[in-house]
Amino acid sequence: MSSPTKHLSLFHRSRRLRRTASLRRMVQENQLSVNDLIYPVFVTEGEKQLEEIPSMPEIYRYSLDLLLKEIADAAGLGINAIALFPLIPTEKKDNQGKESYNRDGLVQRTVRAIKKEIPQITVITDVALDPFSIYGHDGIVKDGKILNDETVEVLVKMAVSQAEAGADMVAPSDMMDGRVGAIRKGLDAAGYFDTGILAYSAKYASAYYGPFRDALESAPQFGDKQTYQMNPANSKEAMKEVALDIAEGADIVMVKPALAYLDIIRRIKDYTNLPVAAYNVSGEYAMIKAAATRGWIDEKKVILETLTSMKRAGADLILTYFAKQVALILK
Ligand code: PBG
Repeated sequence: MSSPTKHLSLFHRSRRLRRTASLRRMVQENQLSVNDLIYPVFVTEGEKQLEEIPSMPEIYRYSLDLLLKEIADAAGLGINAIALFPLIPTEKKDNQGKESYNRDGLVQRTVRAIKKEIPQITVITDVALDPFSIYGHDGIVKDGKILNDETVEVLVKMAVSQAEAGADMVAPSDMMDGRVGAIRKGLDAAGYFDTGILAYSAKYASAYYGPFRDALESAPQFGDKQTYQMNPANSKEAMKEVALDIAEGADIVMVKPALAYLDIIRRIKDYTNLPVAAYNVSGEYAMIKAAATRGWIDEKKVILETLTSMKRAGADLILTYFAKQVALILK
């Protein structure tokens, strides 16, 4: 007779389903797919410009000519969408962000060119003042404060001008109150009923945005963004923001950053039937790249594990600087 410790009488042995690769694949609950990826890209003025962002290895600011190649490349890998961010020359910045709705501004020219050359890719434009602001804030500044309603007026003009240039979706990342509703009304009034709104609904005042602000030279010139972006300690407040954005007409809601906020992604996913996006932000990218460069982690495996955690948390879509790398790995 065998000893009881040698053969435990267990009816349930979870390891049965982990025994072989095919069994593991059969019971896998979440799949990362290239369909879910949105690739954020940076555009700069000029021609043949390719500037690596020091805190974001392998991520560049592209002049339009080179950006078109990069986007064609991404589309070739099966990536469905890009999110566009501009580096605006200092002399075009002001407090009101007037350049943001210039018909021939960098964003507008870029969107037109992308939609002409690579029409199948979904173009999502950023709606916020910070790249255009001399203060690096997401709104108009007065006496050290960020004005809400005056800023929303500019955001509406910016969104309409992006739609006119051909943007498929506009993505307000500014966290001003009431902007989603105002943008929806503005787009409709201008006839852009089919231009969608990807709302940065739960956007936190996060230190993970540092490398992105290097990329756009858009760091706040005074103070921080805590009077409009959310306190990282809050989660009920995220639900309030999401409810408002849905009521105001958002098509997709987003949580940003992603990794330190997986619980928020899950709460929102359980709350709404709208698609939920997660932004795997610049600081999250930089941390993985930094450790991988030193040989401290297995880069590919950590990328896949990290993005899969966002899917598991409930993200339908993931904005990630790893988009091309992941598309290649998944191929
Ligand atoms: C600003 C904006 C930020 C990001 C996207 N849009 C930075 C900020 O709020 O200061 C961050 C993206 C990233 O870190 O990758 N409207």
